[in-house]
Amino acid sequence: MKAYRLSHGGRIDGLQLHDVEERPLDPHEVRVGVKAVSLNYRDLMVAEGGYPIKNDTPIIPCSDGAGEVLAIGSMVTRVQPGDRVAASFFPHWFDGQPTQEKIASALGGDVDGMLAQAVTLHENTLVKMPDQLSYQEAATLPCAAVTAWNGLFESSHLRPGDTVLLLGTGGVSIFGLQMAKAAGLQVIITSSSDDKLARTRELGADETINYRTTPEWQDEVLRLTSGKGVDVVLEVGGEGTINRSIAATAVGGNIVTIGGVSGFGGEVNPRSLVTSIKRLSGIYVGSRAMLERTAAFIGGAGIKPVISNVFPFAEAQAAYRHLQSGKHFGKVVIDLTQ
Ligand SMILES: NC(=O)c1ccc[n+]([C@@H]2O[C@H](COP(=O)([O-])OP(=O)(O)OC[C@H]3O[C@@H](n4cnc5c(N)ncnc54)[C@H](OP(=O)(O)O)[C@@H]3O)[C@@H](O)[C@H]2O)c1
Repeated sequence: MKAYRLSHGGRIDGLQLHDVEERPLDPHEVRVGVKAVSLNYRDLMVAEGGYPIKNDTPIIPCSDGAGEVLAIGSMVTRVQPGDRVAASFFPHWFDGQPTQEKIASALGGDVDGMLAQAVTLHENTLVKMPDQLSYQEAATLPCAAVTAWNGLFESSHLRPGDTVLLLGTGGVSIFGLQMAKAAGLQVIITSSSDDKLARTRELGADETINYRTTPEWQDEVLRLTSGKGVDVVLEVGGEGTINRSIAATAVGGNIVTIGGVSGFGGEVNPRSLVTSIKRLSGIYVGSRAMLERTAAFIGGAGIKPVISNVFPFAEAQAAYRHLQSGKHFGKVVIDLTQ
């Protein structure tokens, strides 16, 4: 069996294929033949050494993958051979509120992830995927889709007709767009590219703003909402966007603090939150139960995850470089059957 390995900070060049020996299954373990893996911005951060993990040994990277159950241990009850499954981002956060113990490790960070022809996981990590999703599509759910789901529907209390602001057209934001529209929400989305904004319109975006040509885009958000602001922002921008996102949010609204594609530094003035009763709420992907709810919603609503580019297993480095280029729209996928 072949698997990629990568050290924290090992750079994309350090992503190399290795032969890995498969060991016998423990009673509660499951062997999954991985069919597809999707990349997240986090996978670039791990390669660049900018992710908060303590493990120096090379790990199998990537949290997000989907595949077929090949074999099960003697006590396994959650899945059967032949089931189509994906793994949950945090192997120990099954449900309920997060705790230090529940989020202590995540696939493709402190522990081995999914960029391998086969992976061995505890049965409790696995979730069955909706039949209508291909393996490539199912592989996009565990991090990006769950994060968007959590931000919109678990950490926020939106109602149909409320307005959501999405930043850029990466994995989290495009899932945010698709789920928000399926739930009857109004969507304002930004991008550096007019072509990408045209594609968001095809997916149902109500209003679009080019953040390059409109650098004071928070003013445009206020104009588009008659001065009120949006109810929720999925804040993936970080340092360069968070204060604009706060300014673009309505009284009582929620700035779901997710990422930092423009950097993780910066300062926030408490007054910008206090007197307008806005919440800054950090989220970190979500639990296995959230992955189950996300999969049920995506399956039930007939949402087709937006896959920007697919690379064969042998070209994983090229897939990483494509994500790094920022040319993608939605998700970048590595197909292990190619
Ligand atoms: N907390 C969590 O649980 C969690 C989970 C998933 C992701 N994240 C974080 O969320 C962020 C996005 O992740 P992702 O996987 O969706 O990334 P991604 O697919 O790589 O998308 C990044 C997109 O961000 C946009 N962008 C870049 N600079 C920007 C700026 N200054 N202002 C607004 N948009 C900008 C670009 O869109 P355009 O090309 O359209 O301009 C780019 O394509 C990352 O920081 C990631 O670490 C956090």
